[in-house]
Amino acid sequence: MSEAPHPDRNRRKLYGRRKGPKLSSRQAGLRQTLLGELAWAPGGDPLAQFPDNVQEVWLEVGFGAGEHLIWQAQQHAQVGLIGAEPYEMGMAKLLTKLEETPLNTVRLYEGDGREIIEALPDASLGRFFLLFPDPWPKTRHHKRRFLQMEMLDQLARVLKPGAELRFATDDKSYLPYALERLMAHPKFRWLAEGPADWKTRPADWPPTRYEAKQIRGLPTFLRFVRH
Ligand SMILES: C[S@@+](CC[C@H](N)C(=O)[O-])C[C@H]1O[C@@H](n2cnc3c(N)ncnc32)[C@H](O)[C@@H]1O
Repeated sequence: MSEAPHPDRNRRKLYGRRKGPKLSSRQAGLRQTLLGELAWAPGGDPLAQFPDNVQEVWLEVGFGAGEHLIWQAQQHAQVGLIGAEPYEMGMAKLLTKLEETPLNTVRLYEGDGREIIEALPDASLGRFFLLFPDPWPKTRHHKRRFLQMEMLDQLARVLKPGAELRFATDDKSYLPYALERLMAHPKFRWLAEGPADWKTRPADWPPTRYEAKQIRGLPTFLRFVRH
């Protein structure tokens, strides 16, 4: 399964590695079979790519190994979950879990989440998750962060009024960077009323693999609404 080249060849890449350790033969096989079955095809009405019982579509960009994505899909049977992750081993781990616990309300894209968002129709998403995105800590690399003002314009376009945007980071500089942009954006409103709201994990927001294995700072949980 190879990622189609983006027409703009000068477009900045937002992630480092796609390839990591060699996949086992089971993992490589699942990329051919299960990923083929569950592949997300950018474009068109997103509901059309899910079973009939799905009433709303949510998107998680950079799902890592997919623990959070699976949890959300299991908790919300009427929601179709699209997940984007360019890192092969992350995708392989999620496919292994899905082989053990099948879920037909999940669709997967092994590539750049921007391509999904750009191809979505207006007001077609009920929720968006960006959890512990790559921090790109050096100032000269901030342009590689997923959350750019242009991306917020795109997200405001594709999210339905009242839809939630969820963002988490433990990076000391990504937090003010994200807040500055989200709070300046006319279409997003922060749902927090006090520090407990961003310091405490909401009940319907399970920990990710990054939190379990790589976290460096204090996690913050931001919930914004598209109005
Ligand atoms: C620090 S990891 C966090 C993974 C996961 N959210 C977690 O919390 O365990 C960031 C992930 O975002 C993915 N990523 C980076 N840029 C991306 C993009 N443009 N589209 C989709 N995924 C991206 C990376 O491959 C990486 O797996």
